Amino acid sequence: MKQKIVVLLILILVSVSVIAAGEEIGSGEDFLILVNRDHPVAEGYVPADLVLLEDVIPEGLCTYEHEGIMGNREAALAWVSLLTAAHADGLDEWRFSEGYRTIADQQDLFDRTVQDYMDRVGMPEDFAIEVTMDTVAPAGTSEHHTGLAFDITVPGEYFGDTGQYLWMKEHCWEYGFILRYTEEWEDETGYMEEEWHYRYVGVENAMKIKELDTCLEQYLFWWIEE
Ligand code: DAL
Ligand code: ZN
Repeated sequence: MKQKIVVLLILILVSVSVIAAGEEIGSGEDFLILVNRDHPVAEGYVPADLVLLEDVIPEGLCTYEHEGIMGNREAALAWVSLLTAAHADGLDEWRFSEGYRTIADQQDLFDRTVQDYMDRVGMPEDFAIEVTMDTVAPAGTSEHHTGLAFDITVPGEYFGDTGQYLWMKEHCWEYGFILRYTEEWEDETGYMEEEWHYRYVGVENAMKIKELDTCLEQYLFWWIEE
């Protein structure tokens, strides 16, 4: 009898954790996952529903800085609508430079940036690490790990100076994306402004975040957790 109860409890525990794992990313609230220096992803975390952007976004809407850029399926579909609308408004040059990154990718990026500061400007390592932390998340704490964050550029131009950036500032919310790192919220997000980094949270949340003129951290703390 005791054995049966133990087996039953194990089965219940297993099914609860399977349901929880299946819900990681891919529906409603999961698009609000918070990843920052205080909220790293779990060890071995791999988001569900990753797709190659080029498999979802029709050719001609954008280009890619390198092969194999991936992202969440729903976010990729949202890019299709966004880029189609932007093209209709006369903005036809868009290039993805980053999407999903593994923890190893992020570690590599962090180490390369530190090394670059040391080699190019002769910074001591501890200072180079400190400066790198202003712009590159330590491995495990980048929201690129979620497949919901994307860096978009215009070849040969600083994105912040482009018409594409002005368009995104006005319209990205309508497609479920937020401008994640702004000057106004640097203290809260921990990062300097990144005009090129967009985070998918779903249309409803993005519109609310725009309306409240807030950042994801504040939105989750004040508007969702309460
Ligand atoms: N540049 C952002 C903060 C990242 O590395 O995820
Ligand atoms: Zn980014």
